[in-house]
Amino acid sequence: MAGTLPFGRLDGRRAFVSGGARGIGAAIVRSFAARRWVVIADLDVAAASELARETGAHVAGLDVSDATAVQTVMAQDGPFDIVVNNAGIDQHAFFTDTSVEDWSRLIAVNLTSVLACTHAALPAMQAARFGRIINVTSEAARLGSRGGAVYSAAKGGVISFTRSIARENARYGITANAIAPGPIRTPMLEQAVAKGGDKILQAMTGATLLGRLGEPEEVAAAALFLASDQAAYITGETLGVSGGMGIGG
Ligand SMILES: NC(=O)c1ccc[n+]([C@@H]2O[C@H](COP(=O)([O-])OP(=O)(O)OC[C@H]3O[C@@H](n4cnc5c(N)ncnc54)[C@H](O)[C@@H]3O)[C@@H](O)[C@H]2O)c1
Repeated sequence: MAGTLPFGRLDGRRAFVSGGARGIGAAIVRSFAARRWVVIADLDVAAASELARETGAHVAGLDVSDATAVQTVMAQDGPFDIVVNNAGIDQHAFFTDTSVEDWSRLIAVNLTSVLACTHAALPAMQAARFGRIINVTSEAARLGSRGGAVYSAAKGGVISFTRSIARENARYGITANAIAPGPIRTPMLEQAVAKGGDKILQAMTGATLLGRLGEPEEVAAAALFLASDQAAYITGETLGVSGGMGIGG
């Protein structure tokens, strides 16, 4: 029904959402699933399957930092018109308390996965002369993070990568944009609050101009817009969905 399609011609497009089983990714899957064929690419197959039953989406159980596994899934389930690189992990520790193994895992899941999924998806998008790459970064990339130096570095890499992919692929009708969430009410944030307590929660909400946490659906709305035809003239951008945190609140 036209009334349920606020962003125009979306039907028939195929979307791949990494980390789509819960949190921000699950909200993106829910907002996309009514309009297009969606694959939830996640390590957590049980949660992905439950969401698939609810939404009619499909499940690919994989570690998206494993480029070979990504290539296989893209070949089996693709081609995709829309790729949302959302899977991520964080770590709360001062840099001097982190190990090389910590850095490798954070960079693999937050940055290498974005490279792997984009690399596997682009050839078909280029051939189709249409594509939408949407990368979920973080305001921590722009502001830095006390207790999240490696996470911020990996997310900063996502912003630079997004701009380069936008430059290389504009001639194919492909756009690449990033979304930078602030503190969003998801299992990732709840785990950080469980460890750090109310002080952490107050620091997070206090860093936003609006003085509250964001909801996963508020990030999903930005992803839905960037995936739509209405966003066809937007590329290489990073859109903050962070209650104003990105302007230094
Ligand atoms: N929640 C926030 O406050 C916040 C703020 C800024 C940025 N972000 C970013 O938003 C994205 C989503 O965060 P969230 O809060 O929804 O996280 P979450 O931990 O609640 O959910 C992440 C999902 O990604 C999946 N995942 C993790 N590693 C994976 C891997 N290697 N392969 C496949 N799937 C994997 C998990 O199983 C989970 O379903 C992340 O990139 C995160 O860094 C979140």
